[in-house]
Amino acid sequence: ANLSAMNTLGLTAFAARILHLQSIEQLEQWRLDPELNTLPWSILGGGSNLVLSESLDRVVVHVELKGKRLLREDNEAWYVAAAAGELWHPFVQWTLAQGWGGLENLSLIPGTVGAAPVQNIGAYGVELKDTLDHLTAVDLSSGQMQQFSAAQCQFAYRDSFFKQSTTPWLICEVVFRLPKNHQTKTNYGDIANALQAMQLPATPSAVSQAICQVRQAKLPDPAVIGNAGSYFKNPIVSAAHYQKLQARYPQLVAYALGDGQYKLAAGWLIEQAGWKGRRLGPVGMYEKQALVLVNHGGATAADVLALEQAVQADIAALFELALESEPVKW
Ligand code: EPU
Repeated sequence: ANLSAMNTLGLTAFAARILHLQSIEQLEQWRLDPELNTLPWSILGGGSNLVLSESLDRVVVHVELKGKRLLREDNEAWYVAAAAGELWHPFVQWTLAQGWGGLENLSLIPGTVGAAPVQNIGAYGVELKDTLDHLTAVDLSSGQMQQFSAAQCQFAYRDSFFKQSTTPWLICEVVFRLPKNHQTKTNYGDIANALQAMQLPATPSAVSQAICQVRQAKLPDPAVIGNAGSYFKNPIVSAAHYQKLQARYPQLVAYALGDGQYKLAAGWLIEQAGWKGRRLGPVGMYEKQALVLVNHGGATAADVLALEQAVQADIAALFELALESEPVKW
């Protein structure tokens, strides 16, 4: 089964089997099928945070569960449920069209609703964990369905219980709590500027529009040029390390985390290292945002890993820190 069109990096990749999941009932049938159980299973959403090896000896379950609804409402909030196979951005737009704010800063992130909690998607000062009420997931080793509160998901920066788990869990439905007294968050410089240029008050829909503009100006559209968004995490360093770097590089872009540590802009580090717009074989770091690894055509996982290692080596030599890659590797 060819997965080349099912991962946004556009890597050439083949899996032993691909199963299209359109209802939970199918799962139980497949779990009982001996032929399907000789191989490990992996769960695929939009394929937008993945580096796929060329040959995958696995059963890939493509999550195609659909549906979204207002679950309930109280004086404080709307509780909105979406099936894992819903596309993230159209879902965000639908919530905004209903007049429910809260997800606007996460506009235009590629992928599906079910994949969003796995890496705790985040942008412009907001993370998925801020609005997630709970989710339901099936443990594929036992077939048991379980409900997870936000705390049980163990969210961290681009991380969760599901990203860490060594056994596969299939997220079925995610429920968001969208507060009725929601205040939009526009303290991120680029967003404030875009809003001002549009001369719109900062309503959730206007913030969404501004964010779409900012993202489209900086981030490559995977339909045009293969990529998986930010390829590395922004590294977190101690105050001592930060001060040492700051003395050497007064332009260093960093955010104080409030606990004494600093988060550095990896895009800035990579640009300083000379990798912005530079290529290695068929892949390169994007010319408008150095944190995004792009496939200029025909790349395989080996090409991606070669570039990852070359960038990591240069960053380690220059700044004495280890850049961690962000996408999941199969
Ligand atoms: N910068 C450079 N050169 C570059 C890129 C960035 O100097 O080539 C500097 C700029 O000074 C800029 C700063 O880095 O002000 C931060 O850049 P940007 O606003 O583009 O955000 P980021 O830290 O590079 C993170 C997320 C993005 C998210 C944006 C906006 C991670 C790994 N990435 O990127 O998430 O959209 O913030 O909030 O945390 C993703 O995860 O796939 C993703 C796109």
